[in-house]
Amino acid sequence: MLRAASTDVPVLVRDTDTDTDTDTGLGCPCMSGSSIEVETPALVIDAGAFAANLERGRREFTRGGLRYRAHAKAHKSAVIARKQIEHGAVGVCCAKLGEAEALARKGISDMLITTPVIGMTKVRRLVDLQRLARVAAVVDEAQNAKEIASTAESAGVEVDLLVEVDVGQNRCGVRSPDAALQLTRVIEASTGTRFLGLQGYQGRSQLVPDFRERQAQAMASADRLRAVVDRLSEAGIVPEILTGGGTGTSAIDVEIGRLRELQPGSYIFMDTTYAGIEWDLDCNPPPFHPALSVAATVISRPSSTCVIVDAGLKALSSDSGIPRVKGTDAARYSFAGDEHGTVDYDHGQAPSIGAQLELVPSHCDTTVNLFDEFVVVRAGAIEEVWSIDARGRMH
Ligand SMILES: Cc1ncc(COP(=O)(O)O)c(C=O)c1O
Repeated sequence: MLRAASTDVPVLVRDTDTDTDTDTGLGCPCMSGSSIEVETPALVIDAGAFAANLERGRREFTRGGLRYRAHAKAHKSAVIARKQIEHGAVGVCCAKLGEAEALARKGISDMLITTPVIGMTKVRRLVDLQRLARVAAVVDEAQNAKEIASTAESAGVEVDLLVEVDVGQNRCGVRSPDAALQLTRVIEASTGTRFLGLQGYQGRSQLVPDFRERQAQAMASADRLRAVVDRLSEAGIVPEILTGGGTGTSAIDVEIGRLRELQPGSYIFMDTTYAGIEWDLDCNPPPFHPALSVAATVISRPSSTCVIVDAGLKALSSDSGIPRVKGTDAARYSFAGDEHGTVDYDHGQAPSIGAQLELVPSHCDTTVNLFDEFVVVRAGAIEEVWSIDARGRMH
């Protein structure tokens, strides 16, 4: 599908390896007319920005002796999971059982599924998966825990379970310390399951732009988790792992010091939504760089200020808004259908037919899920192609 990179063709994306750049500044209209290295639409990783994020993640998420288990829902790729583990992650999280299966087949051996695994078919798959990898799961009700326990017992394996606690998201999770204690006892009662700890993730806080507001929400979530820890402690139970948090609250969670494992996902790519949050009290931007873009080709040029590109709703997710045109503030993308996008330019000439642009997604996770592979680009050439192994694995 991809053309081999030629070392003497014009650049598609320039390398970036600094700690302060937030944009490589390329993919801009001035690049128009360059020969096309990659068939578009293509999902591009800027190798330099990606490497900087990996390294920064290692430093950010291990401060104060904290551990991190990077969330693979952002990338769904065994290659990237391995790199995160090489950079200090204790393993990876998966949102779904199917993701964990795909990554286990590619050799990832330590995972946590952060969404309840419900129904006997899936429970059997979870138990079978233990033969390939150590895969823990979360539960928030007794029947599910009992099904996992009895299936694991019959298979002669033990599944590590965490009780998911609702720490404010109003999504999954037990709603009270007493409910957490009851469920913990169910897990402890069986030889098929082992109580590993608690998960308390508050997804709604992650992208709150205002730092103080995000901090207040993270504190409230930490207090809810603390109430459960205290209740278990009264009963003589000490959770080994307290996990939660994402990219947005990571620095705050490190300071609060209640979690023992963080689950950051988006830091590895960032997206335009994440790029807009205040990272700290001084309103600094996040320390991670946009590393992901969708390369698109101009396929029509209705006027000197407008072009049509070959990337629409099937190449860029729209749940968090429109993508940004990389390298310029004078161009605006809008969706023009499943396979088409419109880019309007404020000044100057729109690029010519055949030119390539890069579009920075508004939401990395849902955009990644639209592609089979990442094209890793450095200094204008394709360096590698990485498979998105768990793409579409939502069951
Ligand atoms: C349970 C859970 N943990 C961690 C994350 C990672 O969050 P982020 O991508 O904001 O770092 C997510 C993302 O949706 C999640 O659902």
